[in-house]
Amino acid sequence: MKDIFNVTGGARLAGTVKVDGAKNSVLKLMGAALLAEGTTTLTNCPEILDVPLMKKVLEGLGCIVTIDGDRVEITTPAELRSDADFDAVRQFRASVCVLGPLTARCGHAKVALPGGDAIGSRPLDMHQSGLEKLGAVTRIEHGAVVAEAEALRGAKISIDFPSVGATENIITAAVLASGVTILDNAAREPEIVDLCSMLVSMGAKIEGAGTSTITIEGVPSLHPTEHEVIGDRIVAGTWGYAAAMTRGDITVTGIAPRHLHLPLEKLKLAGANVETYENGFRVRMDGRPKAVNYQTLPFPGFPTDLQPMAIGLSTVAEGMTMITENVFESRFRFVDEMLRLGAKATVDGHHVVIRGKEKLSSTHVWSSDIRAGAGLVLAALCADEVSTVHDVFHIDRGYPNFVENLTALGATIERAQEETFY
Ligand code: UD1
Repeated sequence: MKDIFNVTGGARLAGTVKVDGAKNSVLKLMGAALLAEGTTTLTNCPEILDVPLMKKVLEGLGCIVTIDGDRVEITTPAELRSDADFDAVRQFRASVCVLGPLTARCGHAKVALPGGDAIGSRPLDMHQSGLEKLGAVTRIEHGAVVAEAEALRGAKISIDFPSVGATENIITAAVLASGVTILDNAAREPEIVDLCSMLVSMGAKIEGAGTSTITIEGVPSLHPTEHEVIGDRIVAGTWGYAAAMTRGDITVTGIAPRHLHLPLEKLKLAGANVETYENGFRVRMDGRPKAVNYQTLPFPGFPTDLQPMAIGLSTVAEGMTMITENVFESRFRFVDEMLRLGAKATVDGHHVVIRGKEKLSSTHVWSSDIRAGAGLVLAALCADEVSTVHDVFHIDRGYPNFVENLTALGATIERAQEETFY
């Protein structure tokens, strides 16, 4: 039986919400713990489904992993297994982050081609070519990516696109390579900076994290550490857009606002009053939001993971919006669900044009990925009656206590089981 959310439209969300650690950081940090023998501790970990899934992947490699609230402890043995468990890995994209650490530690890695969200083609060619530059031989074999290396050597690497995952795997392999690696066109996302700061606290030598050129001087070994995961900028941004869509007033804590600079600027252009603090921000929207154009780009551009929220806001904004998706080709599948809610939107290739309406029209909608699911819940809050959002397991993968947080902010939303509605 699958869970659904019944969402009553017409709410005005107001109050304070604290965000937990970033999903897209914690999973990579858990993978990076493979690089050092001993016990690594992570704090501020979010309680989302992908964390126990990652625990299963690491246990399959020989680690002992305990999860206690927001604290995760990973004890990594001297000898790791280098074949990641096929079933565990296939369930979520971030599992591919064990490729770099395993290649560096074991000289061999076999990781099933990961599954995850239905947002478009997600090849691993840049991960493979990066590892090959470091001296590994890679291939795709029986549904898995295999990397083998007698020894990794530092190299000059330039990737075609600032891929987050490829940047991470190259860094986590290069930290134990002999010599210096210079990675050009690296991803600049805050989660890359978080990973590098943890690696530095483990003894790695890395400079330039957060810029397009990252320099890594390999060291013979790393030691375990304790590290606090950065706040989840996508969850935080979701709350900011929720405030604007429901003409509400939400203060978000647990997040560095510089990680959301452009999304918050867009909210200002849409008419919101935005205040930023050292560890959070407040978004208040008094009237109807105005239409603002967006194009998704790697950080510091507008994040593709907030594109569903931008679409949601545009469907109830005054005027016409154009949104261009430049990162994932199939992310506009979500628009079909918005059409069910009465949104006026037309997709043309990687553009969508939206004419905003005063109110959406309640119905049944289906989540296709984590962020689309959250976007549908926000849209349902702007509809006239009660909507049902299906396949909410996607949302549970990325938004801890979503229903509880929404309820505390004044929404009427309940979790139920699907079969009771047929
Ligand atoms: C990560 C995030 C995801 C976010 C995305 C972009 C995690 C678990 N997921 O995904 O939420 O939406 O960054 O910010 O952290 N590509 C290739 N070849 C490669 C690698 C990537 O063609 O070898 C392409 C992808 O198909 C995509 C683009 O590059 O079109 C960006 O992907 P990438 O930055 O690698 O995203 P992920 O790390 O998968």
